[in-house]
Amino acid sequence: MSTEETLSNLLHETRRFEPPAELAESANVKAEVYARAAGDREAFWAEAAERLTWAEPWTRVLDDDNAPFYQWFTGGKLNAAYNCVDRHVEAGLGDRVAIHWVGEPVDDKRTITYTDLQREVAQAANTYAAMGVGSGDCVAIYMPMIPEAIVAMLAAARIGAIHTVVFGGFSAEALAARVEDCGAKLIVTADGGWRRGAHSALKPTVDEAIEKLGDRGKVSNVLVVRRTGQDIDWNADLDVWWHDSVATASTEHTPEAFDAEHPLYVMYTSGTTGKPKGIKHTTGGYLTQAAYTHWAQFDLKPDTDVYWCTADIGWVTGHSYIVYGPLANGVTQVLYEGTPDAPERGRWWKIIEEYKVSLFYTAPTAIRSFMKQGDAIPAACDLSSLRVLGSVGEPINPEAYVWYKTVIGGGAPVIDTWWQTETGATMMTPLPGVTAAKPGSAMGAFPGITVDVVDDEGNSVPNGSGGYLVVTSPWPSMLRTIWGDDQRYVDTYWARFKAQGYYFAGDGAKKDEDGDIWVLGRVDDVMNVSGHRLSTTEIESALVSHPYVAEAAVVGATDPDTGQAVVAYVILRESAPGDCERELSDHVRKEIGPIAKPKRIMVVPELPKTRSGKIMRRLLRDLAEGRGVGDTTTLADSSIMELIAAGKAAATDE
Ligand code: PRX
Repeated sequence: MSTEETLSNLLHETRRFEPPAELAESANVKAEVYARAAGDREAFWAEAAERLTWAEPWTRVLDDDNAPFYQWFTGGKLNAAYNCVDRHVEAGLGDRVAIHWVGEPVDDKRTITYTDLQREVAQAANTYAAMGVGSGDCVAIYMPMIPEAIVAMLAAARIGAIHTVVFGGFSAEALAARVEDCGAKLIVTADGGWRRGAHSALKPTVDEAIEKLGDRGKVSNVLVVRRTGQDIDWNADLDVWWHDSVATASTEHTPEAFDAEHPLYVMYTSGTTGKPKGIKHTTGGYLTQAAYTHWAQFDLKPDTDVYWCTADIGWVTGHSYIVYGPLANGVTQVLYEGTPDAPERGRWWKIIEEYKVSLFYTAPTAIRSFMKQGDAIPAACDLSSLRVLGSVGEPINPEAYVWYKTVIGGGAPVIDTWWQTETGATMMTPLPGVTAAKPGSAMGAFPGITVDVVDDEGNSVPNGSGGYLVVTSPWPSMLRTIWGDDQRYVDTYWARFKAQGYYFAGDGAKKDEDGDIWVLGRVDDVMNVSGHRLSTTEIESALVSHPYVAEAAVVGATDPDTGQAVVAYVILRESAPGDCERELSDHVRKEIGPIAKPKRIMVVPELPKTRSGKIMRRLLRDLAEGRGVGDTTTLADSSIMELIAAGKAAATDE
C-alpha cells in the first residue's frame, strides 16, 4: 500500500468502535493494565512470565548491561515444549483437544488431544536424540500444514535443539541457503502436501537443496512424513520415514530445563540486502510475550474458546500464534492444511461453522480477496460463534476492516496487531475489552511496550504528524541478534537512533490528532506482498543470475489484491531473445518461490541512477503505480526516465 493511499484513507477516517460492553465486563485485562504496566514494566513482564512454569526462577528480569544485546529473565530455566504440552496434561487437561486438524481434501480430519500431542512430541524428541541431534543443534523444518509440523518444532524445543522452519513454498535455492546458514543437521519434511486439489511436492525440493549444498551441508538425516503418498526418490543413507521411526519410538521422554536465553529458533526474513537475515529468538522472554499477548489480545478463555490462525507455520505468525502462544495457553485450535478456495470458495467459513471458531486471526490480503467475492459466500454459513477477530501482516484498509468486522464478525471487535518477525510477538494492538478501535489503525502500544513515531533526529513527532516507528525500550520477545552476524544486528536495528537507544522497525507511521498510531508501510527497500516481506535485492539477484539479464531493479507497486506486487525492470543482454519476460518470471519463481514471482517485468534500455550509481527505486515505483515521473534532478542522466516511460506502454503484463 502506498503512503499516499493510506494517508488519504486516514484523512477521511472518522469511524471509531468502542469495546462491546459484555466483552469489556468479563475481559481478561481491564483498563488499569496500561497504567500498571507503565508504572513498572519489569514487574509487569515478570508477572506475565509467572504464567509459565519455570524449573528455576530468574534472578534478574531485564539485563541491559550489554545493550543492544539485551537478556530477559536471566538465570531462569524452563522447557518450552513442557510449557506448551506436558503441564496441561499434568493439570488434568489431557483430554482437551489441542488441534482440530483439517486437511485440504474434505473429510480428511484428525483430532489431537494434549495427551496425544505429549506422546507424539516425546516420540519425535526420542527420534531426534537417536539421530544424534541434541541441545544447540539446528533442525530445519520444511513441511505442509499438518500436525507433524508442530510436533517437529516442539520436539526440537524439547531437547534444546534450535528449529528453523522454512516456508513450504520456498524453492530449493532458498531452502539450501537457510539450511547452510544455520548449519542444520536434520531436515524434517513430507513427501508433499495438498494445494488447490493437487499434490504439491516437498521432498524433491529437499533432495535438490541437499545436492546444491554438497560439502557445505551438514545434514545427516532427512525425516519424512508420508502425507500424500506420491512417489519420491529415496536416499537410504539419509532418509528415514516418520512412521518407521517417530511412530515406533518410546512415548516417554523427560524434558530438560534450558536457560531462559537458550536459542529457541531462527526465522529467516528479508532484509534490504540479498542475504536473508536469520532472526534469533530465545526461550523465556519469547514464550512469555507470545503467551501473554495471545491471552490478552484475543481475550482468550481457554476452557471455551476455539481459536484459528490461518498463517502458515513457515512464518513468524505461525510460530508465535499457532504454536508457542496458543499452546502455552492450553487452547483448542483449528489447523487447516489447504488454500481458502479448495475445493470451494467458502471453505474457511465452513470450517468456522463446523468447529464453532470463536477467535480468528488472518491477514488483510485474505480479507480483501474474500471481500471481492461478495457477501453471499460467508452469509451461507453460520459465523455467529466468532467473538474476536484479528488482523496482521500489513496495514488493513479501513473498508476491508469494516467488511471483516460486520460481514464476517457480525460486529465483533477487530484487533489490528502490529509486530514483526524481529519483535517476536505483538507490539501494538487495541485490546478488545478495553481500547476503542479505528479501522486501519493499530492504535497504540501493548501494555508494557513503548513505541513512538520520531523524526530523522529521533525526536517524538507531535500528534497529526508522521515519521519513523521506533520501539523505545527493550521487550521480552525481542530478537537477540541476527544468526552469526552481531554487527548486522546492531547496524540494521540500533544504529539509526543510536543516541536514543531506540529500535528502528523500518516502518513509517503517523500519529493522528488523538495520538493513535497508523502504520504506513516499509520505509526501506523491503516489499510487503500478501503480508510477506520480500527484499527487492533478493529478487534482483535472482533476476541477474539469469543469463539473459544484465541489470535489474525491483520495486513494490501498490496492488489491490496483494497490498504490493513485485514489479521488475530489467536490462537485457544482447544475447537475449526478444520475448523472454515469462521465462524470467519463472526463473524467479524457481530461485525464490512463487510468492516472489514478478507480476510485471518491463524490459528497459537503462535504469535511473544517481551520480553515485544508486538505483532510484522511488522513480520506478512512481512509474509502476502510474503516477508519472516526479523529481529527477538527482539523476545522473535525466532523460532516462523518459526513455523508460516511453517503453512502458509496450511492457507485457505477466
Ligand atoms: O511493515 C510491517 C508489516 O509487516 C512487517 C513485518 O513483517 P514480518 O516480519 O513478515 O511479520 C509479519 C507478521 C507479524 C512490519 O514491519 N505489518 C505487520 N503487521 C502490521 C503491519 N503493518 C501494519 N499493520 C499491521 N498490523
